[in-house]
Amino acid sequence: MCGIVGYIGTRQEAAPLLLEGLSRLEHRGYDSAGVAVVSPSGIKVAKRAGRVRDLQEALPKRFAGKVGIGHTRWATHGPATDANAHPHTDAKGDVAVVHNGIIDNAAALRAELAAAGVDLVSDTDTEVLAHLVSLADADTLEGKVAAALARVDGTYGLAVLHADFPDRIVVARNGSPLIIGVGDKEMHVASDLAALVRYTTRVAHLADGEIATVTATGFTTYSNRGADLIHSPRDAIHLDVDPAAYDVEHGEGGHMWREMQDQSAAAERVLRGRLDERFGTAHLGGLNMDARETRAIRRVKILGCGSAYYVGQMGASLIEELARIPADAEAASEFRYRDPVIEPDTLYVAVSQSGETIDTLLAVQEVRRKGGRVVGLVNVVGSAIAREVDGGIYLHAGPEVAVASTKALTTMFLAFSLLALQLGRVRDLSISDGKRIVAALQALPDQVEEVMSLSDSLVEVAEQLAAADSLFFVGRVRGFPVAREGAQKFKEITYRHAEAYQTSELKHGPLALISAAVPTVAIVPQDELTDRNVGALHEIAARGGPLVVVTHPGVDLGDVPCRRFDVPRSERELDPILLTLPLQLLAYHAASHLGLDVDKPRNLAKSVTVE
Ligand code: F6R
Repeated sequence: MCGIVGYIGTRQEAAPLLLEGLSRLEHRGYDSAGVAVVSPSGIKVAKRAGRVRDLQEALPKRFAGKVGIGHTRWATHGPATDANAHPHTDAKGDVAVVHNGIIDNAAALRAELAAAGVDLVSDTDTEVLAHLVSLADADTLEGKVAAALARVDGTYGLAVLHADFPDRIVVARNGSPLIIGVGDKEMHVASDLAALVRYTTRVAHLADGEIATVTATGFTTYSNRGADLIHSPRDAIHLDVDPAAYDVEHGEGGHMWREMQDQSAAAERVLRGRLDERFGTAHLGGLNMDARETRAIRRVKILGCGSAYYVGQMGASLIEELARIPADAEAASEFRYRDPVIEPDTLYVAVSQSGETIDTLLAVQEVRRKGGRVVGLVNVVGSAIAREVDGGIYLHAGPEVAVASTKALTTMFLAFSLLALQLGRVRDLSISDGKRIVAALQALPDQVEEVMSLSDSLVEVAEQLAAADSLFFVGRVRGFPVAREGAQKFKEITYRHAEAYQTSELKHGPLALISAAVPTVAIVPQDELTDRNVGALHEIAARGGPLVVVTHPGVDLGDVPCRRFDVPRSERELDPILLTLPLQLLAYHAASHLGLDVDKPRNLAKSVTVE
């Protein structure tokens, strides 16, 4: 959600590097983009509503400077206009600020500045920061930024330029990620590794409450207590990541397509080295829990947002079934607002692709503040949630760029399977059941591939679904989170109203909406509920509702008129993930048919770092 880049060096021009970095962050926000450089004649700014390529085309010919910052925006305060695009400047144009996050007291600060005669030219909360830095009474840029931040309530990752301090970028973090990349006599700044990994893998993650000065030759970090800066020395660390994996070149079909196609390989990566065939268990050293601690767990609470929450529901079922520990998932965005009781014998599990989702991060902090133990299922190595938790499982999904999450979710499900297996085997899961699950997990990457090969056969149905204004996705028990995830994917990239329901609940209300104009996508696995599910299909068909059924080979749907898609069977506990994959494909083909930008759906951004 919004992306920040910065560059400071002595040899290269900043602008081309900033634009390249922004294009790698565009999935974070794509309402508007802008850059600022320190030129010999002061700060220069170019910004406009639209995509990074629009900014690139509009960049003035003379835009020289070896120090600069840039931003790609997802609007929070004010619509996507040129004036609201970042960087924001003070009245004289000496200060330029890019900012991710939300300044909660912006309205009061704007009123105060206006009363003092400051002319505010945008609707944004960020603009106040530029004026506060400009007006701050301090001798150094770090001091000015600290003084400005002392006036501010809210969250931020920010980068600041000042014409009077042309040899530095000052950055700060509170709740929104900020990474410093160390190069050879040049330094980079970014809100996301993707923007700087091509130049360096030596990085320092700022912690909340830290400010840093970045010059061409190094950086200095300070903890920001009020307006006092206290030096907090820290070394950059080397990240063991493959820069090529962050390549954002659009292949055929775009990011979502490529990420769906990578799911089989991603499934192999998350399982690699973690399965024990001999003892029918999983080895998850990163959890940092010994057998005694594992046996002491009485409850599992899973916290995540959006699709991560729905996969969390699948994970809760897995844990209950395999480990027989009561487990449930809750939307992390709601968790801390109900003053939750944190129990010492509950294992809290935070699940997040980005590791930066602010709602999930705040839920983790709530658990820790109250003394609970929390582990993470996280994709992005070194992200805020990964650093905040007591232990965890990295997903190894590889970079996920499309806003609609696909391969990360598949790896989340498999990570939950590994967790459930390990918890189960330390408790009462028999070795034969453990071996049964291990064998099924080993078969899954090939089965994922098999489902993806159904893609062409789903195109026609997807196009029919795209014609409806409103759809239901229904499932029961293990199938219900599958339906929720299916509806989520469909609505976010097709902009159709897609609602998930328990199949069993249809007749308690929603059946009133079923008609020839409202199709239903039903999840009907081969399980103990198949007959009841088929009964519900009859009820939908009797009301003229078109049906698409995702099911298993051999399931007898009787004479229900429907389009049927069979996915391979796994062990019943693991079925949800294979049932989910056709729903990704349906959403993808429907959105493509509608001519929509599948990778960058309107109003959304990858990684939501504001509350
Ligand atoms: C849906 C989607 C979102 C994310 C949610 C959590 O396709 O991508 O619902 O799942 O914003 O994001 P992470 O996993 O980064 O915490």
